[in-house]
Amino acid sequence: MGKNIVLLFSLLLLLSGNRTAAGAAPAPLNENLGASARPDHVVLTWTDDPKTTQTISWRALAGIQNGSVLYFEAGTASTTITVSAAVKLFSTFNWDTKGSFSLFSAALSGLKPGTRYKYIPVAGDTAGDENSFTTEPADEASFSFLLFGDSQSGNRYGRDYGAWRKTVTAACARHPETSFIMNCGDLVETGQDVLDWNNWFEAAREVLPSVAEMPVQGNHETYNPASGPAKPVYFLEFFKVFQNGPENLKGQVYSFDYGNTHIAVLDSQKDEEAPKSDDFLKKQAEWLEKDLSAAAKHFKLVFFHKTPYFNKGKRGNEDILRTLCPVAEKCGVDIVFNGHDHCLARTFPINGTVYYTCGRSGAKFYTDSAINESDEFFFNPKEQPCYVRIEASKSLLLVKAFSSDGTLLDTYSVTK
Ligand SMILES: [Fe+2]
Repeated sequence: MGKNIVLLFSLLLLLSGNRTAAGAAPAPLNENLGASARPDHVVLTWTDDPKTTQTISWRALAGIQNGSVLYFEAGTASTTITVSAAVKLFSTFNWDTKGSFSLFSAALSGLKPGTRYKYIPVAGDTAGDENSFTTEPADEASFSFLLFGDSQSGNRYGRDYGAWRKTVTAACARHPETSFIMNCGDLVETGQDVLDWNNWFEAAREVLPSVAEMPVQGNHETYNPASGPAKPVYFLEFFKVFQNGPENLKGQVYSFDYGNTHIAVLDSQKDEEAPKSDDFLKKQAEWLEKDLSAAAKHFKLVFFHKTPYFNKGKRGNEDILRTLCPVAEKCGVDIVFNGHDHCLARTFPINGTVYYTCGRSGAKFYTDSAINESDEFFFNPKEQPCYVRIEASKSLLLVKAFSSDGTLLDTYSVTK
């Protein structure tokens, strides 16, 4: 009998060990949704010129109505400037844990190009950590940024964002020169579930307060635990970006310039957001053509989540291939970056444009993705996550893909 009890305990320990390895059950949230009096979920983005502005967002307890940012040029703390933040009450949808918090956002403007600033976000009377950012230089000879494929991890019962934490933290430590970072969609598993975002922000907290993050929306940002996909409201609330996209898609579609490069971000989620609409992609194609035609930069890059030249199963995205790709190719886009398939894949140039699928930075990988006939390079990162570094100098666009541990996986360049 005693032996049986020992065996039973051993079995229970083994089972609980397995559960931890797969991602512990989420800690229960109360109505504060994990927010406290102290600012957290600090994230830098741009809503205007990266040379002279910086947008800083954070959260704190609901009920705190006043927020501000104290900032000063590094080395000149005696001239601290205070900027008031806009505040908005964020409340969860009814399928999510019921609760709310205050979301703050402050747009710093009139900054000097190429200058390092220190800042402190404040909520009510409580100051957050001091961090710093650097504005874009006035005349940038070259710059680089890091691109992260799907960071989504786990599921409703086990959201372990450790892989994302390790990948983004290691990549930014390895490339401290990075001017900004981008995610290529599917940042989280369930985009309308606040616990997923808590874990995503927490995992990247060493990085997000000191380097701008320009996000691309994926299909998982539209998902909610209770019903079908919907407008990605949480994503839109958490990331303040350029509001220059088409009507009804502002915040999901936008563009900006950095150095000698123009960057346009699109929303490929027609199936989730507007399955019956012919206009959803058409409207973006029209916007993209105008946007790219007006862009006076040497290199042009486009980002959207779903792959027109897919590697995973039979994931055809015919509408995207037919609607968005011809515009990118006609307007001289050098590279279109995608996510979704969780593998690294680079096509041969197609009418002058290369399509680059940027792997996965989170825990999720597929075993059934494969090279297709359009690909010059393919790698399925089953062993560990990966990331992509893009460097743009005067006449050279250099793309390198790395494993999370820093192993070089692919090099591609455009010279013109
Ligand atoms: Fe996806």
